[in-house]
Amino acid sequence: MRRPLIAGNWKMNGRLDDGRRLAEELAQRVHRASETGDPPLPDCELLICPPFTLLETVHRTLAGSGVFLGGQDCHGEPSGAHTGDISAAMLADIGCSHVIVGHSERRQNHGEDDALVRAKAAAAIAEDLVPIVCVGETEAERDEGRALAVVTGQVAGSLPESFDPARLVLAYEPVWAIGTGRTATPADAAEVHGAIRGALAERYGEEAAAALRILYGGSVKPDNAAELLRAGDVDGALVGGASLKSEDFWRIAQAAG
Ligand code: PGA
Repeated sequence: MRRPLIAGNWKMNGRLDDGRRLAEELAQRVHRASETGDPPLPDCELLICPPFTLLETVHRTLAGSGVFLGGQDCHGEPSGAHTGDISAAMLADIGCSHVIVGHSERRQNHGEDDALVRAKAAAAIAEDLVPIVCVGETEAERDEGRALAVVTGQVAGSLPESFDPARLVLAYEPVWAIGTGRTATPADAAEVHGAIRGALAERYGEEAAAALRILYGGSVKPDNAAELLRAGDVDGALVGGASLKSEDFWRIAQAAG
């Protein structure tokens, strides 16, 4: 019942031509797969989160492909004097269905805390966007044996009081695995994902916890995707570096299907 979601986070990469080309390559793969079935269409949802400047181009390029479009961040307020920020409504306007909130690069580089991430998630929900709420421990926290406590604490602080579990996604991204080429082992990922789901069940009930998707992120590549996606309670992937090559992103999507 939890359809896998493979989400590409392009981060701060790509000028107009790069974004258009990458989106075109992906749209072509989707079209070829749906027309010929060779290779088959991956049995998962696909989502691309480009930088703000590429949203319109990518939206136009992906039209009709069924690939979802998302922002990489939004403000917690609907509008106002917030220079440099983008609201959830603005993302919805331009064709986004999803938005990443609380990515560790925002938590670290912009001092975002759980309360702010929760406000952003609520702002996204208010505009009918699906927030992808990111959590993850640092290497020091893992070494100190605090990974589960940190991650479940972030989940408790970053999720709104109520939400539709089919319209919110969590992403577990160990900070030490992002962009480093190191990944959690499938067993470690399963342990954390299981702990998150257990904590969700306590707070929101079994049914909601069972319906909510939890993605793994951190150096997901074509050659490790299958084993990570098979790990218990892993319902997809949030892919950074490998989403910048259509071939790699496509192979990861096929590993999910
Ligand atoms: P990575 O990034 O795949 O390059 O490690 C993942 C992420 O930060 O979402």
